[in-house]
Amino acid sequence: MGVPPPILDLARTARRVAVLTGAGMSAESGVPTFRDAQTGLWENVDATALATPEAWEDDPAKVWAWYQWRVALVRGVHPNAGHRALADWGHTARVQIVTQNVDDLHERAGSEEVVHLHGSLFSPRCTRCGRPVELPDPPRDALARLEPPSCPACGDDVRPGVVWFGEMLPQEPWEIATGSVRDAELLVVVGTSGVVYPAAGLPALARSHGVPVVEIDPRETDLGDRVDHSWRTTAAVGLPALVEALEHGRP
Ligand code: OAD
Repeated sequence: MGVPPPILDLARTARRVAVLTGAGMSAESGVPTFRDAQTGLWENVDATALATPEAWEDDPAKVWAWYQWRVALVRGVHPNAGHRALADWGHTARVQIVTQNVDDLHERAGSEEVVHLHGSLFSPRCTRCGRPVELPDPPRDALARLEPPSCPACGDDVRPGVVWFGEMLPQEPWEIATGSVRDAELLVVVGTSGVVYPAAGLPALARSHGVPVVEIDPRETDLGDRVDHSWRTTAAVGLPALVEALEHGRP
């Protein structure tokens, strides 16, 4: 797979790279995306039925069961060659990953700087007192309902550590993300449809600071006019090709 020369040139000179990833980053690991036709989670599940505070208020056991199913799914898959390529790139440049994903595949691939804008499946917390709680092992089979555990400190329900529609993003990851993008010499956007804000605003933030933006996605996205170069390839094909070309080209 030939790396488009303008993208390779930008990557070659960048000592500090910010990478914004979305569900497409984990697709080749076997984790469903949200909006891909037929295979996306939201194609098969009504997002508002599960990923909102109202859904949680209405039926915590249904929401907890769905997130524990996703924990089991992520535990059963592995980082793909794209995750590993980003971790390798981090050995020769400073690579700061800003992910919208709630899986832990970047960390498992060895990336050291990862912030989760939309939280993580692996950081449940108490609904009331906010205390982090140890993630219980998910059930072997997907269940329609599963009572959430109780907070050991205050007894209230433990909730998934993810951001739901309508909720504010965690402040610290957002601060780190905007700092990484502003200070980068290159922003690489991988596998996001660019429809959910404020994450989708990061490419525009990069460009307002003179940071070139490159997109890796097999399909057209909403980011079209906000990126300098689009490479119509996948995470697990494009990123390894790019990192391989960087390593070969190194003097
Ligand atoms: P989407 O499902 O909206 O978009 C996935 C993107 O990945 C699309 O642009 C696909 O073309 C692309 N894609 C699919 N397979 C790919 C592959 N193998 N390699 C590279 N790209 C691929 O997912 P997100 O943009 O991440 O938020 O969705 C953003 C947010 O919406 C999620 O974080 C979640 C969801 O609601 C919350 O839950 C708060």
